[in-house]
Amino acid sequence: PEPLKVLGKRKGINIGNAIGGRYFHDPAYKALMARECNMLVAENEGKWQALEPRPGQYNFGPADAMYAWAKEQGMLVRGHNLVWQEAKWLPKWVNEYDFGAQPAKAAEALLRKHIVTVCEHFGSAIHSYDVVNEAVDPKTGGLRSNVFTERMGAVEQIDLAFRLAREKAPGAQLVYNDYMRGDEGSAKHRAGVLKLLHDLKSRGTPVQALGLQSHIGSWDDISTSATYQQEWRKFLDEVTGMGLDLLITEFDVNDRKLPADVKTRDAGVAALARDYLDVTLSYPQCKDFLMWGMADNVSWLQGWDEAPRTDGQKMRPTPFDAELRAKPLRD
Ligand code: XIL
Repeated sequence: PEPLKVLGKRKGINIGNAIGGRYFHDPAYKALMARECNMLVAENEGKWQALEPRPGQYNFGPADAMYAWAKEQGMLVRGHNLVWQEAKWLPKWVNEYDFGAQPAKAAEALLRKHIVTVCEHFGSAIHSYDVVNEAVDPKTGGLRSNVFTERMGAVEQIDLAFRLAREKAPGAQLVYNDYMRGDEGSAKHRAGVLKLLHDLKSRGTPVQALGLQSHIGSWDDISTSATYQQEWRKFLDEVTGMGLDLLITEFDVNDRKLPADVKTRDAGVAALARDYLDVTLSYPQCKDFLMWGMADNVSWLQGWDEAPRTDGQKMRPTPFDAELRAKPLRD
């Protein structure tokens, strides 16, 4: 079969994958990725916690190695992410930081130092950045709070992050990245994301695209219903109506609700994916498709205890199986 990146090229779509440090030394997996993909994102190695595990002590090595490999392979690189809004994903030392007598100023300075240092280090190696990740609380649709938002204001902080990225990574596409499907709060979540994007646009924030994480299939039986598809189109219409591009940034299909039988399960995964991708990729603004792991054994969902299979079976959320053989989802 033709590699995905060849099929993608014909349609004007980049094909990417998230590679984790745990698999970066696996030659077979890397060969598969090099054959199928023309874009790379680091699964964890580009996050603040990984880049600056202790204040002022940078650890760029693992990300540099991945990006250098991507360059050798002629792949584009996505930076993920400059700021992850949920407090538990920020470095511990950031959450415990002493902001002193002028907390708003100190918070701004810390954010500035981080974004400037990271953007200057990677320079033009990064084609596209997730500047802000998961800022909307799906339960309420409001903005999440963290040590920065509490001191600077939430929209203000997000706006500043984009402006700093624009200044220091002038050639990169700037993306707001979030998950908008799947859980019970999804309607509120989508409304919250739309409000945030409207607010940013009206401030003149240099946000260029919405990253649709696309961890689909997980818990809803509604993802294929006509009403849901309609809601999803309405959402994408409104986003593109603001002049924003779309990317699928973290695609996988959570199969925990599908039957144990592998054939049935793989067919179910492929069907869910088709329903989702037919709609989402029908938007000409969506020019990037990235998987969050491309073989079942490397998928983060194997170890994600918030949503395990109840029968103890391994998950099958990606296009290739643990032996790197193509599954129906690939075809
Ligand atoms: C996940 C990684 O895959 C895991 O290895 C890590 O333990 C936690 O983060 N949304 C995101 C990604 O934006 O960064 C997450 O990646 C998956 C959900």
